[in-house]
Amino acid sequence: MSTYLIKGARVVGAEPTDLLLRDGVVVESGRGLDARGARVVDADGLVALPGLVDLHTHLREPGREDAETVESGSRAAALGGYTAVCAMANTSPVADTAGVVEQVWRLGREAGLVDVQPIGAVTVGLGGERLAELGAMADSAARVRIFSDDGHCVADPRLMRRALEYVKAFDGVIAQHAEEPRLTEGAQLHEGEVSTRLGLTGWPAVAEEAIIARDVLLAEHVGSRLHVCHVSTAGSVEVLRQAKARGVRVTAEVTPHHLLLTDELAASYDPVFKVNPPLRTASDVAALRAALVEGIIDVVATDHAPHALEDKECEWAYARPGMLGLETALPVLLSVLGERWDLIAERMSRIPARIAGLTEHGHDPVPGAVANLTLVDPAARRTVDPAELASRSRNTPYAGTVLPGRIMATFLRGEPTVLDGKAVK
Ligand code: DOR
Ligand code: ZN
Repeated sequence: MSTYLIKGARVVGAEPTDLLLRDGVVVESGRGLDARGARVVDADGLVALPGLVDLHTHLREPGREDAETVESGSRAAALGGYTAVCAMANTSPVADTAGVVEQVWRLGREAGLVDVQPIGAVTVGLGGERLAELGAMADSAARVRIFSDDGHCVADPRLMRRALEYVKAFDGVIAQHAEEPRLTEGAQLHEGEVSTRLGLTGWPAVAEEAIIARDVLLAEHVGSRLHVCHVSTAGSVEVLRQAKARGVRVTAEVTPHHLLLTDELAASYDPVFKVNPPLRTASDVAALRAALVEGIIDVVATDHAPHALEDKECEWAYARPGMLGLETALPVLLSVLGERWDLIAERMSRIPARIAGLTEHGHDPVPGAVANLTLVDPAARRTVDPAELASRSRNTPYAGTVLPGRIMATFLRGEPTVLDGKAVK
């Protein structure tokens, strides 16, 4: 194992210090540390954050390796400052057995760029009818703790209740894609002024809010952990606020795109802006930002959803929903929150690591911590160029947008996965 000396990094925005990484751990910090044969990384002006942790990543393998693989998605993650990602279960075949989650976990280890923690499906084939083998996935080598039918809602309340009961035994969590399916049949974008103007079927906010309200009550009744994926409306924030005030064990995530973009973009009919849940209004965006600062929304998760060209460069109605997110998440958050480093570390690393039970992640790079960290240049500004992305797909909604901040280096257990802003392998 190698030794690295990071010179002059501002740990979570504090005064510059040197960090010595050896045998996968931060062994020393302080000014003017002696290099002693270590490889030196100049971090003058850079901020060191605990490696980012994504609770919601679509890696598409197995099944849609043309859109993304565990390796290409892992590389995109490392370039985005991530050291761990949770891989969603809506692959083909679906990750609903010990065999599939172990396959994804093994591919992640082989790629070796981030820790890939598989999420297991709640129901067989995401069909919403029978519980998948949750216990077998939990007991597998992949040690699954988060279960989700993401892309689909676990709409049947009895099944949702049983899933919550089942995972309680091993402190698992059900991550719900909150969408009442009967209220979103044929929906193309947020139901509101823009959908009316365009004459398209809308996806009403209440379809999300009704499921969250139901599920917090179920979670409260059962005493289990619920996590709400990609919260997108002001009303959902209020439901979560009440549930948290009552002490319900619920956590929630918001995506970078729901913090920055609005449904006005759908008027372009450019399918790059089609996503599920849909982009909402400016007042929803404002409420989501405030909830993230306040802690009603616990974490930022990317919902990185790569899609092949033929699934995106077509008519709006036929396009698949989803946007890339891993390589732009931190810059988007910097543009939304500014340099509030402690808040960013909390929402993008410490809390997501805790929710996922990834004990090696989410720790500030101080002596004794596993050396999972990223170095950010806050002064850099970059224009997003889809051609430069490491993802196999190109469906970023930020093409041509100038965003602040650049990931200069990422370390996974003391070994660089990114150096000088480039992937190491
Ligand atoms: O936009 C989305 N894309 N939302 C989802 O829930 C699923 C995801 C995907 O798999 O592409
Ligand atoms: Zn989803």
